[in-house]
Amino acid sequence: MASHTFEPIQQRQVRVWDVIVRLFHWSLVASVALAFLTEDARKLHEFFGYTMVGLIGLRLVWGLIGSHHARFASFVPGPRRLVSYLVDMARGRERRYLGHNPAGGAMVIALLAMLGAIGWTGYLMGTDAYFGDERLEDIHELLANILLVMIGLHVGGVILASLRHSENLVLAMITGQKRADDETTKH
Ligand code: HEM
Ligand code: HEM
Repeated sequence: MASHTFEPIQQRQVRVWDVIVRLFHWSLVASVALAFLTEDARKLHEFFGYTMVGLIGLRLVWGLIGSHHARFASFVPGPRRLVSYLVDMARGRERRYLGHNPAGGAMVIALLAMLGAIGWTGYLMGTDAYFGDERLEDIHELLANILLVMIGLHVGGVILASLRHSENLVLAMITGQKRADDETTKH
């Protein structure tokens, strides 16, 4: 491949995702997948669903006290930053971020909120007040289906950003390491 600059063979790596974020992510993926797979086995389904709820609870705390890139303050975008990033994306000139980019950060919040809502409707279904309420079951199922679309967008975004900045973001969520920033990278 032709290149106009000499790249050092070993690029400097920095730790971006701490161990809690990484364990959280892959445990969340497993618990959500297992909740879907066990939707007809009620006890198991509830177990994996509540595991997910516990993980979300831990992540909310870690978002306040965790390492820099884990903290909500470092990646939750305001509407202006989000829109300007999306405009940049549409023009194919969005910048690289070490932590979550503004679109990814917004999706993280949407995913956490949606998972919270699914857990909440699931919990309500078991309470006396709502037991056997089919509307609530329908809402729970609808939210789960919307979640699937969001997960598709999330994984699509991860692949797109990986391609655009020539890096493997999935691997980074396993090792915690990313290529150190260059002058165009945002923190
Ligand atoms: C059940 C499905 C999934 C859910 C609910 C989910 C949720 C999340 C959440 C909440 C985060 C934020 C992590 C944090 O800051 O704590 C995240 C990040 C991430 N997820 Fe997922 N995820 C799912 C599936 C996947 C899959 C299948 C992949 C790999 C193909 C993946 C790759 C990533 C990556 C690479 C990041 C970091 C993105 C970045 O570099 O900014 N996720 N995901
Ligand atoms: C990641 C989390 C979850 C996902 C993706 C999820 C998804 C689903 C789906 C797709 C169904 C099938 C709906 C239908 O066919 O009628 C279902 C049913 C159900 N879910 Fe969840 N759910 C989750 C968490 C929970 C939690 C935390 C609870 C709380 C106890 C819960 C309780 C239930 C109940 C009681 C049903 C009805 C099962 C039955 O038909 O007897 N879910 N869920």
